[in-house]
Amino acid sequence: MRIYRFDEIDSTNRFLREKEDILEKDLAIAKIQNAGRGRRGNKWVSTEGAALFSFSLKHDFQINEEEYMKLPLLVGYSLLDSLKKIENLDYKFKWTNDLYLEEKKISGILVEKIKDYYVIGIGINVNNLNLEEAKDRGISLREKTGKEYDLEKVILTVVSDFFKSFEEFKNGNWNEILEKINKVNYLYGKRINIVTFDKEESGIAGDILEDGTLEVFVGNEIKRYNIGSIHIAKK
Ligand code: BTN
Repeated sequence: MRIYRFDEIDSTNRFLREKEDILEKDLAIAKIQNAGRGRRGNKWVSTEGAALFSFSLKHDFQINEEEYMKLPLLVGYSLLDSLKKIENLDYKFKWTNDLYLEEKKISGILVEKIKDYYVIGIGINVNNLNLEEAKDRGISLREKTGKEYDLEKVILTVVSDFFKSFEEFKNGNWNEILEKINKVNYLYGKRINIVTFDKEESGIAGDILEDGTLEVFVGNEIKRYNIGSIHIAKK
């Protein structure tokens, strides 16, 4: 594993995406990001004390392309397990790939594809106390426990756990993983607004299904929403 450490950078995802000689398991870690990227072009507040990192996974052509749609869920599941080992708290998994603690966001994940690689970017609120713009919606481990954590240790645990989970996934244990994800499904039973490309609908979220879609009860209908095509409106 090659590790690139930065005191300050725009975005660790951007760094790996533009790295010409990228290899599997390249890992970029930053103390601060001045242009941290979130999903759908959102900004990710990246203050010192958060774990801010990205790593690369090479596309395995033995695996069906569709299976990679489950990657964000797999990253989220594996991350939740890693955090449990570090601090055994009641984290929830918010489909498609955020982690929540006490109704507040503790971690965000951004998976991007570039050539034959996936760049998996993760931000975890660990030691940071001033969550600024994210204040109402964010929480850090330190806020919850009062403890300070070794950031590099946290990051290396998360990355190595992910590659173990990915091996298990390749060996066909998706159903087991899915069962675990559904036990901590943050959206389950909640009313959500779903914005697709052409319309907005409101419904009650159900389970995450075998193919990684979310089941939503909209009026009398049961619909399935795809990871790539929806946006859950903030309430
Ligand atoms: C989201 O919640 O929308 C995803 C946030 C992902 C943030 C991480 S921080 C490290 C990596 N570099 C980035 O620019 N983004 C990801």
